[in-house]
Amino acid sequence: MIFLNINNLNVSIEGKKILNDFNLNINQGEVHAIMGPNGSGKSTLANVLAGNEDYEINSGKIIFKDSDLLDLNIEERAQKGVFLAFQYPVEIPGVNITPFLQSSINSKLKNEKKPELDNLSFAKILRKKAEELGINADMLKRSINTGFSGGEKKRYEILQMSVLNPDFAIFDETDSGLDVDALRIVTEGINKFKNKKNSFLIITHYQKLLNYIRPDHVHVMRNGKIVKSGDISLASEIEESGYQNI
Ligand SMILES: Nc1ncnc2c1ncn2[C@@H]1O[C@H](COP(=O)(O)OP(=O)(O)OP(=O)(O)O)[C@@H](O)[C@H]1O
Ligand SMILES: [Mg+2]
Repeated sequence: MIFLNINNLNVSIEGKKILNDFNLNINQGEVHAIMGPNGSGKSTLANVLAGNEDYEINSGKIIFKDSDLLDLNIEERAQKGVFLAFQYPVEIPGVNITPFLQSSINSKLKNEKKPELDNLSFAKILRKKAEELGINADMLKRSINTGFSGGEKKRYEILQMSVLNPDFAIFDETDSGLDVDALRIVTEGINKFKNKKNSFLIITHYQKLLNYIRPDHVHVMRNGKIVKSGDISLASEIEESGYQNI
């Protein structure tokens, strides 16, 4: 099975070319990190993978679990197991966390032809997951991200991931002002959730985050494509001498 293969992907927005013959292969169970200067196209890549329709796909393929993601819309991709944690999480006032997550998981179960969860069994699962992640039960009654602190948004993101149980999770953590606590929430959450079956794409400017997560591969992106790949030592190289020599 091809897990994820991005082949010669060209993407533009308002006529401006952002992804430029982009190629990347991720196998099941692997953690990949992408670093790169501001504006190199990292968030664009994340959004295009998740199915954001603001971008124009000029050519290329994104094969995920043997089908082309480009043929699927944002909900279908989520149901197939793609998850995106945003660089700037959206606040959704009036949409309560508990019913939202319940309907998300149920639409995934329904799609897999598995029995859906009733309110009581879902509430139990959610409480247990929240407890494991150190999330206060009061937070589960609130609207998504509304009035959340940066750290709370991170906790919610991890909770949402652990409930939806995606095969492929993308974290766009660029310049979002992760403080020490938020960094710990994200890294512990990912490390707890990571197993042989799921894969991750972590977008970050911080070597520190990668030291905790220990990705299998690190890539540097510039002008819409990967210009260098290596292991974790590539992240230290960048931390020391910046992107200019890459
Ligand atoms: N909705 C949009 N409208 C216009 N231009 C856009 C839009 N989204 C992205 N761009 C442009 O595409 C380029 C790549 O942006 P992108 O957000 O993907 O970069 P990035 O690598 O994530 O940067 P950062 O490290 O700052 O997060 C930038 O020049 C940006 O201005
Ligand atoms: Mg970005």
